[in-house]
Amino acid sequence: MTDPQLVLTERVRLALADAFGAEFADADPLIRPSQFADFQANVAMSLARRLPDRPKPRDVAQAIADRLGDFPGTVEVSGPGFLNITLGDAWIADHAAHMFDDPRAGVPTTAPAATVVIDYSAPNAAKEMHVGHLRTTIVGDALARVHEHLGNRVVRQNHLGDWGTPFGMLIEHLLDIGEPAAVAQLEAGEGTEFYQAARQMFEADETFKRRARERVTTLQSGDADTLRLWHVFMNATIRYFNKIYAMLGVTLTDADIAGESMYNDMLAKTCADLEASGVAVLSEGALCVFPPGFTGSDDKPLPLIIRKSDGGYGYATTDLAAIRYRVHDLKADRILYVVGNDQALHFQMVFAAARMAGWLPDSASAEHIQIGMMLGKDGRRFKTRSGESVKLSDLLDEAIDRARAAIADRGYDDATREEIARAVGIGAVKYADLSVSHDSEYVFDFDRMLTLTGNTGPYMQYAQARIRSIFRRGGVDPASVTGPIVIGEAAERALALQLLGFPAVVERVGEAAEPHRLCAFLFDTATAFTTFFENCPVVKEGVPADTRASRLALCALTLRVLETGLNLLGVPVPDRM
Ligand code: ARG
Repeated sequence: MTDPQLVLTERVRLALADAFGAEFADADPLIRPSQFADFQANVAMSLARRLPDRPKPRDVAQAIADRLGDFPGTVEVSGPGFLNITLGDAWIADHAAHMFDDPRAGVPTTAPAATVVIDYSAPNAAKEMHVGHLRTTIVGDALARVHEHLGNRVVRQNHLGDWGTPFGMLIEHLLDIGEPAAVAQLEAGEGTEFYQAARQMFEADETFKRRARERVTTLQSGDADTLRLWHVFMNATIRYFNKIYAMLGVTLTDADIAGESMYNDMLAKTCADLEASGVAVLSEGALCVFPPGFTGSDDKPLPLIIRKSDGGYGYATTDLAAIRYRVHDLKADRILYVVGNDQALHFQMVFAAARMAGWLPDSASAEHIQIGMMLGKDGRRFKTRSGESVKLSDLLDEAIDRARAAIADRGYDDATREEIARAVGIGAVKYADLSVSHDSEYVFDFDRMLTLTGNTGPYMQYAQARIRSIFRRGGVDPASVTGPIVIGEAAERALALQLLGFPAVVERVGEAAEPHRLCAFLFDTATAFTTFFENCPVVKEGVPADTRASRLALCALTLRVLETGLNLLGVPVPDRM
């Protein structure tokens, strides 16, 4: 364990249990970074209130300080009973050296490994892949990368919206315009236009409407010709999705597709089993689950409808079949649903119903990782100027174009400039999505996400590229650096202390499913590095050999942390910028 905050938490806990008895070992030492020392522990105030003889908090703090024993630093009691804790330089250097020697930079692997099913991206083929799906894709992919790095078994599930009544009209429209034209349009990412044209026919033309309805029936009955047409439609659509995934550098592949259609054959049994166990009941002709605690505006129990009165199944039916499959067949310990926050109620009710049915045992968790809406600069749902939804490939192309323009004057040859423009443009979009907590709304703003200052993708990419250039200039291969790390200047100390927090942050991002914590950490790291670099020459002439070796090691460790962190976020790491 290298994280100073965790180390101190453990130490202070032991000391207070030693001073006041094991029954108080549950007290949270409340260790926080402080402006007066490295850390401050505030536990003495709350503990004083719990102790039977109500001692003064200052005395409680002193008793803890006295029992910290061979503590690797200094502890002072201050104010009403704060513990000001400063770690010794040797301790910091020693732990930084350990981290430096470890190819995983101290990040532990989860033992035993858990199976984490991550449901993300999940665009709808029958509607449009809109910017909202961009965010679920990017956040979900970062979580998948983090869990894999932590040694968990990750199963990606792309729950495509690839089934349902709209496919009747989509297939009829495909027949009307001809397969080649339809395929070309869908592959080009014009699914929305395709959908709207089909919808228009459906509303304007009675014959088309009748054909569309009949087509739904033949599709559901498994008619071979109709299924072939459905495949033609879906394959072209998936080729477009894959183009977006490739542009984004997202790790989803065709093997991860587990769309709604996959559950089709399980829906009848899903309903039958729920009815047989009494979990679902008939209500006004529809089969419903009434999970306790959910009521509508009229205070009546809220139904989760799993079979409509016309016999049709819905979104919830599929999700119940899916949860059962994920627990039973995929052996999920944890299921993360990275989906828009407007579906919160749906997931709460699905999870509750699955627990009632016994399909989601206590040993497994299902978590809705709520994704906040993406807004335009006007504060409204993100749209083009003319009010249409934005085509994702256009949006990403624009990001790359803007990045290209920003680096136009840096004298790179065409190929290098193109590579950097892609890395920076895509990196900016992804980092902007990730750096804001996933459940808050966020304003999509090209200008802001592409600036080179602040908590942005380009700033983080630049920070690591700058370290690479230090090594290039010094003619040193980062892999050949050995240290040892010694702490001299305050900026060296602050950088090393910051780096020690990396493993705990990665673990926490996995636990809490919050990639923005990693962004914040990397930003603080880049800032600490900047201060270090401004104050501590590394490869300049006249720097003593041992100082140079130590600083090179700090540079190499910072580079490794930044690079690993950006990889975990799925943000490209360009060599130079
Ligand atoms: N296709 C859905 C949508 O775009 C998201 C699916 C999320 N996953 C799930 N298991 N329901 O809204």
